[in-house]
Amino acid sequence: MTDPKRYLVTSALPYANGLKHVGHLAGAYIPADIYVRYLRAQKRDVVFVCGSDEHGTAIPIQATKEGTTPRAIIDKYHQAMKQDFEDLSMSFDIYHRTSEPIHHETAQEFFTYLNDRNELEIKESEQYYDEEAKTFLADRYIKGTCPNCGSDRAYGDQCENCGRTLSPDELINPVSTLSGKAPVKKRTSHWYLPLGKHEEFLREWILKEHKEDWRATVVGQCKSWIEGGLQSRAVTRDLDWGIKVPLKDAEGKVLYVWFDAPIGYVSATKQWAINNKKDWKPYWYDKDTKLVHFIGKDNIVFHCIIFPIMLKLHGNILPDNVPANEFLNLEGDKMSTSRNWKLDMRDYINDFVKKENGGGQCVDMLRYYLTQIAPETKDSEFTWKGFQDAVNSELVSIFGNFVNRTWVLMHKLCGGKVPILHTEILDENDKILNAEIEGSKAKVETLLEQYKFREALYEVIDLSRKGNQYMQKKEPWIAAKQLAANPDMQKNIDNTMHLCLQLTANLAILINPFLPNTAKSMLNMMKVVDKMLDWENAGKLKLLSIGYSLREPQLLFRKIEDAEITEQIEKLKAGLMKSEAGVQKPADEPPTSNLKSQIQYDDFAKLDLKVATITAAEKVPKADKLLKLEVDLGFEKRTIVSGIALHFKPEDIIGKQVVIVANLAPRKMKGIESNGMILMAEEKDGQLKFINPGEPTTNGSPVS
Ligand code: 2FM
Ligand code: ZN
Repeated sequence: MTDPKRYLVTSALPYANGLKHVGHLAGAYIPADIYVRYLRAQKRDVVFVCGSDEHGTAIPIQATKEGTTPRAIIDKYHQAMKQDFEDLSMSFDIYHRTSEPIHHETAQEFFTYLNDRNELEIKESEQYYDEEAKTFLADRYIKGTCPNCGSDRAYGDQCENCGRTLSPDELINPVSTLSGKAPVKKRTSHWYLPLGKHEEFLREWILKEHKEDWRATVVGQCKSWIEGGLQSRAVTRDLDWGIKVPLKDAEGKVLYVWFDAPIGYVSATKQWAINNKKDWKPYWYDKDTKLVHFIGKDNIVFHCIIFPIMLKLHGNILPDNVPANEFLNLEGDKMSTSRNWKLDMRDYINDFVKKENGGGQCVDMLRYYLTQIAPETKDSEFTWKGFQDAVNSELVSIFGNFVNRTWVLMHKLCGGKVPILHTEILDENDKILNAEIEGSKAKVETLLEQYKFREALYEVIDLSRKGNQYMQKKEPWIAAKQLAANPDMQKNIDNTMHLCLQLTANLAILINPFLPNTAKSMLNMMKVVDKMLDWENAGKLKLLSIGYSLREPQLLFRKIEDAEITEQIEKLKAGLMKSEAGVQKPADEPPTSNLKSQIQYDDFAKLDLKVATITAAEKVPKADKLLKLEVDLGFEKRTIVSGIALHFKPEDIIGKQVVIVANLAPRKMKGIESNGMILMAEEKDGQLKFINPGEPTTNGSPVS
């Protein structure tokens, strides 16, 4: 969309169930903030909304963990996340929360609107129910083995290990996390959004209209969803925490968190409008509004498929772009809250930002590094060494150094004032630098408009690099030494310093969306007001007036010392050990009973257990945990895919006799059909052992 009348920019609403880490910051928040600051500098009409996502099972689960109420959890983490964002210079126009009445009303109105127009279907289905806890089990309350990677850290909605979106029915050996028992199926009815009805629209809108301007990763994910067959999605849940379904016959049912959360963008806009005496409607109804959602890749399907269908049905505008980022790893491994392998925003704030007077510097150092490594096209990696290098070798040695040299020399050689420009003696180097300054605006602008924040930032740093090279060629300090013999050299010095100062003013404008605290310090040194940072000033060569006296230099960035890096790495490792110690039982603790609920003999008799021999084994490509096994049952050979690759080398298990469940329905894992399951015993430290008949036995013998 070219030249829209207004912009509405959203950052994913984080769950209010814990502190967020820098991976989140790099994914959905910093890029949005850069974009918005750029638009504001352009004097665009822009509203930037975010807030806490306070529904869904994540909240009561956290409450149980902390021994408190869901309400206490959302109040605690809403406040904490809001503070973290403020401390890291996020400039939301509103940071709202989905527990507010205005949000409940807005989400209920959406549901009613769709339901009244028969856009939702009611379907009866069988869902998992915990007989001991006497409750239907939300997806997150069911744990089991991932059909994709074989990990046992899979939940009914997603696998923690491979990230694959799951439904509870796909889990192998599901268990209720409330009672530890296997759940049973029970009938219940829910409202569904039939996604399939909108396939044509999605194909046209995403795969044709936005094929070029959306990120390839985003279009790719949407394509595979569309081509995988769009199933109807339940938009309600049996749960007692959430927004009540606004219908008489819906006792005990709430809106699914993923139905209400994106509507949070709408209610946040409404609240912003109330606070600022504005009209919210054009931001959601006028086609001249450009709506942009910044998210992480795990949220693509909701923002590109489900929410747009809801918006379309409700008569709203659709997002113009959804620049989703991939994931940020940390020191060679996935960031993970459960394993404590992460860097929380709060930890960075405490260890860097709050530790010194110039906290803004440290905020900008993190914003810089996270933008420089932003996972825009593929997963990327945060390392403390990388952080140190980015700060010391780029921010300090290139950008900071150029500004500092300019200021020191201007005070030393030009009396602390902007010197005159002697146009009649401009040389080739001066002209090249002028052209670079003039051209930089368009370059950075084009990249920002395409959501290429990494490259845009590179251009700004590169411009300061060119400033250093220019200064190096012009050597005003040498010219100063020649002044006594040749007073005309002052003209050369004036020109060099004049251009370097104009370049500094330009750098302040260009760096402002990325590093707002740095831009502010630069304004202070230049003794100019915020207005100078207006984007239209970029590329101009007369931003600082001749004769204007400027302040003393101040260091924009400090170096990151080796000791700080070592300390952080140690802290990270200690955190991991603590978390592992926390989840592991002491070795001499007896196994807990963990008995599943009682079954009848008939239930057992349904299992067809047989002796078999493993005759071949190989790793499944792109699945760390899976082995593809061939087993000989005497009467036939079978392929079984088993999640044991981390426990056994393929070559070590060939020839072993095992017991298999021979009548398990076939299941596809990583495209391979698995016919049966190998029985294993699991030690309390997680070690796996094969169950075998004890003595060599004829293959195919029944086990009972
Ligand atoms: O993944 C998450 O953290 C979700 N709470 C994001 C919601 S984004 C939007 F829909 F609100
Ligand atoms: Zn998995």
